[in-house]
Amino acid sequence: MNALRSELKVLLTGSKGMLAKEFVSGCRNRKDYIIIAPEEEECNITDISSIKNAVNSINPQVLINCAAYTDVDACEANQEKAFSVNGEGVENLIQVCKENDILLVHFSTDFVFDGGKKSPYTEEDKQNPLGIYGESKLLGEQYLLNSHAGFFLIRTSWMYGNGWNNFVQAIINNAVNHTEVSVVDDQIGNPTWTRDIVDITLRLLKTEQYGIYNYSNEGECSWYEFACEIIRILQNSENKFHSTKIIPSKSAQLKRAAKRPAYSALSKSKIRAAIGIDIPHWKESLKKFLIEESEL
Ligand SMILES: NC(=O)c1ccc[n+]([C@@H]2O[C@H](COP(=O)([O-])OP(=O)(O)OC[C@H]3O[C@@H](n4cnc5c(N)ncnc54)[C@H](OP(=O)(O)O)[C@@H]3O)[C@@H](O)[C@H]2O)c1
Repeated sequence: MNALRSELKVLLTGSKGMLAKEFVSGCRNRKDYIIIAPEEEECNITDISSIKNAVNSINPQVLINCAAYTDVDACEANQEKAFSVNGEGVENLIQVCKENDILLVHFSTDFVFDGGKKSPYTEEDKQNPLGIYGESKLLGEQYLLNSHAGFFLIRTSWMYGNGWNNFVQAIINNAVNHTEVSVVDDQIGNPTWTRDIVDITLRLLKTEQYGIYNYSNEGECSWYEFACEIIRILQNSENKFHSTKIIPSKSAQLKRAAKRPAYSALSKSKIRAAIGIDIPHWKESLKKFLIEESEL
């Protein structure tokens, strides 16, 4: 494994996705990472020959897998696709990375848990997904954990960032068109800015402390509290949305195809001990994102 070299060439999959875009922008001005991010047509993780072709032409030391099927409700109706991308896709990547001595970085989700716990989930807690998305992501985790390869598996949660196809954008869009926005208050988790995930991943890559890590921003909240904070920040900084009211509602009212865990906060003790980091609170990161990064 060449992960300690001064300059790392990284093959990034899923290049059009939210997290992948953050990796590309986060590495743009860095000299220690060269990111090459082919489109899905040139690196389809469900097609092993496509991965091999990309690896042969790029010759990376690290492969960061941001490719996934992440539409939690659509996964219920498209189980084959979910298991193919989130499960077998990871198995393909493991095989190609092993053959070529490439370090694999992969992301998983708090949705591998059933939400029955009352304190943050550790890396060792038993998984018991409530839906197909979580089941398919768990399959990907299992392939990796049984692979006997060097890897970083980072479980994260409630992600927002570039691209705006996420909860923060959904709340803003709703607030533009409605004075009252209903948001569930019976699911608790950790909102997490993609910028922070990229920072932590690039720091982990400088180590050889391979394995599974939880990472999310500090502090727990409900989606309702998350939405209230988005609007509060925008009211203070942008002088917008003064008539917007966030109304608490219950998950059962939404009638979504997939069940979500009622509680899915992640314990960060392991990653904190491994690389001695201060993890930003979700409110701090959200404010930075909305004020510094957004195009509002
Ligand atoms: N978003 C969250 O809140 C969240 C929370 C916890 C963990 N995660 C994990 O974090 C990772 C990144 O998530 P994200 O939100 O950035 O996902 P995303 O925005 O949905 O991006 C995933 C990308 O992968 C592409 N893709 C799908 N199938 C592919 C294939 N066979 N080969 C290559 N690319 C393919 C998708 O293309 P199409 O859109 O064209 O299908 C999409 O551009 C995922 O592993 C996800 O499970 C996300």
